[in-house]
Amino acid sequence: MTALHINAFVMNTVSHIQHGLWRHPEARQADFDDVTVWVDLVRTLEAGLFDAVFFADVVGLYGPVGGDYTVNAREGLQIPSHDPSVLLSALAVSTEHLGLAFTSSVLQAHPFEFARRASTLDHISRGRIAWNIVTSTQENAARNFGLARLTEHDERYEWAEEYLDVVFKLWEGSWDEGALVKDRARGVLADARRIHRINHVGPRYRVEGPHLPAPSPQRTPLLFQAGSSPAGRAFAARNAEAQFISAPGPEAAAALIAETRDLAERVGRRREDIKFFQGFAFVIGSTEEEAQRREAELDAYVSIDGFLAHSNLGVSQDDGRPLPPETLLKDIRTNGGRSHIAWLRQRELGHEPTVGDLGRLVARRHPRLVGTPDQIADALALWQRAGIDGVNLINWTIPGSYREFNEHLLPVLQRRGLAKREYAPGSLRRKLFGRDRLDDRHPAARWRGAFTPRLAAE
Ligand SMILES: Cc1cc2nc3c(=O)[nH]c(=O)nc-3n(C[C@H](O)[C@H](O)[C@H](O)COP(=O)(O)O)c2cc1C
Repeated sequence: MTALHINAFVMNTVSHIQHGLWRHPEARQADFDDVTVWVDLVRTLEAGLFDAVFFADVVGLYGPVGGDYTVNAREGLQIPSHDPSVLLSALAVSTEHLGLAFTSSVLQAHPFEFARRASTLDHISRGRIAWNIVTSTQENAARNFGLARLTEHDERYEWAEEYLDVVFKLWEGSWDEGALVKDRARGVLADARRIHRINHVGPRYRVEGPHLPAPSPQRTPLLFQAGSSPAGRAFAARNAEAQFISAPGPEAAAALIAETRDLAERVGRRREDIKFFQGFAFVIGSTEEEAQRREAELDAYVSIDGFLAHSNLGVSQDDGRPLPPETLLKDIRTNGGRSHIAWLRQRELGHEPTVGDLGRLVARRHPRLVGTPDQIADALALWQRAGIDGVNLINWTIPGSYREFNEHLLPVLQRRGLAKREYAPGSLRRKLFGRDRLDDRHPAARWRGAFTPRLAAE
């Protein structure tokens, strides 16, 4: 039995996924703007040998152009929210082993600036940074960055490919190994012959370089991705080292994982070059009845309004009017995330779900594992046999859900070989893949040494 990787799935905001739960007496989500909440949390996560804390992020509100945001504000639905990358700097110095994953959209930062920020964080954390590559699905986010409308779905992935070209050139190609000399006696800090301009010219970006930071422990941060549409999967197969999935059951997960691994092989990578993390919420009890009772208690806090607003599906994206309840989900035109509808349809087998079904479906979109620690471990073993490498642990309350994991589930998982007993040394990539740098099969590797003719000519 191999150990599963475990991530804590959070967001630097009040209400990330489990809407309404911020009102729970044990929840500290409403104090997300107090850094000590996060420092305490990452220490708890490290005590529980979590592989990483993973921060989701968005740069706009859910809803159509000009849409009403009464529900978003009332529910704390990702507003107010703060920048996760700034927070990670504080969390890096509060931890030693925990991976620090953050989301940043190609929409929100110029790749030259983003590459520098990620390198800086990788230096501060001594190689524990991961980047969740997203392209943004919200109209409001597009309009916050000067666009009239959200760029078309598949074109967003083309945009992301160019963005990756730029940052990969900066991280992998701009500085040769050994360029940073720090030779006091000779008075040479760095050797200009080993530092290169990248001279990127593409449809969206022109970036001269060189990269300003010297290489960080991982150079390229560990690469996460979450889109599962055909374009999203092809993108993941080429670029991701880990993918977040939200499959409704082990069979659907197995099919998705096999397909993405096939695609990865077709572009010259290996099946094991991508790890898959499935999102789950746990409800643990000492008996099955207790777990069910606790689930009902938690459900009493759930806000269906919050889930509906988050799903972005119940209203027309053209004029913001509610869609008729009999509208089939499969007929909804959306330029946002496509896999969301696919996951909901897969959850409702034998019946084509409608807008009227949304309230019931979205609140349970992420699989829940409810039961005794042994029952949850059995379920996780089943998912592992379907091909998942890790778990993205969705919380009900912060820090309560993670403390419960440490106290009740971790010992059982460890006993069954499903969780590790200690951290491996080194960078996040070394912990997950046994190496600090991207493997040679990854498309970023083609930029290593690509800008060095000046040195070769001498
Ligand atoms: C588990 C999970 C986490 C995600 N986290 C974010 C996020 O933090 N920010 C964001 O803008 N999109 C996030 N997404 C959305 C994806 O990045 C992607 O844009 C979306 O799934 C639509 O892509 P697709 O149409 O290829 O499926 C997430 C998706 C999943 C499944």
